[in-house]
Amino acid sequence: MERHIRRFLNKLSFASIAIATLTLIILFLQTPQTCIPPNSPSKPHLKFPKSSCDSTPRELVSIDKKNKRLWSSNDWKKKLSSFIHFFQSIQDLGLLHNHTKVICVSAGAGHEVMALSQMGVHDVTGVELIDSPPLVSRADPHNLPFFDHVFDLAFTAHLAEALFPSRFVSEMERAVRPDGVCVIVVEECGDYEVKEIVGLFMKSRFVNSINVTLTGLKMTRILMKRTS
Ligand SMILES: *[C@@H]1O[C@H](CO)[C@@H](O)[C@H](O)[C@H]1NC(C)=O
Ligand SMILES: *[C@@H]1O[C@H](CO)[C@@H](O)[C@H](O)[C@H]1NC(C)=O
Repeated sequence: MERHIRRFLNKLSFASIAIATLTLIILFLQTPQTCIPPNSPSKPHLKFPKSSCDSTPRELVSIDKKNKRLWSSNDWKKKLSSFIHFFQSIQDLGLLHNHTKVICVSAGAGHEVMALSQMGVHDVTGVELIDSPPLVSRADPHNLPFFDHVFDLAFTAHLAEALFPSRFVSEMERAVRPDGVCVIVVEECGDYEVKEIVGLFMKSRFVNSINVTLTGLKMTRILMKRTS
């Protein structure tokens, strides 16, 4: 009796495996139609908003408009000139030239990217988890999509918000060439905190730290130089 039941159960599970496999194959072969061609036979329940398939032209217009509004706001202009002022101090140290390849990590809406571009720096890359075209592209600061040593200078004002600060720092260091610079700006802090931050860098040496005002906030700027 027991054996009989077991055999029956075995058969049943074979049957369900066969059915599941068949279903998977059918699902695999049937490509879902997510983008319905605009002139396909009209079926009201299959009509998608045009933007889901064809969003590029409309989006560009709205991004342009949005940027125009954003960039002409007083808040933007104030922050922009503050960043320009800040980067001029890096220029004065001889660490920033028009040909310097710069990456701004966690660049937010891209104030620093625009500031550097306006100063004449040709090659500025801004990355952030959420992109802000055309200034900032989408990339995870913990996993930068760049080869090693491709930048001369890496800047961030958002190390404090990083989920994994040491990973964030090691990605900055990796992206910067030997003898390149990492410039970190954090909320104003004392020597102890500076030491903690410097300790996150494995392949750079400490140059200096000073207290600065950036976008109206009291901040501490830490300079690190990449070793080979
Ligand atoms: C850098 O670019 C700015 C803006 O284009 C220009 O005014 C400046 O002269 C350039 N600096 C050098 C050293 O070429
Ligand atoms: C910056 O300010 C902090 C706190 O206000 C102070 O402890 C620190 O010594 C200052 N750092 C420098 C380099 O002046």
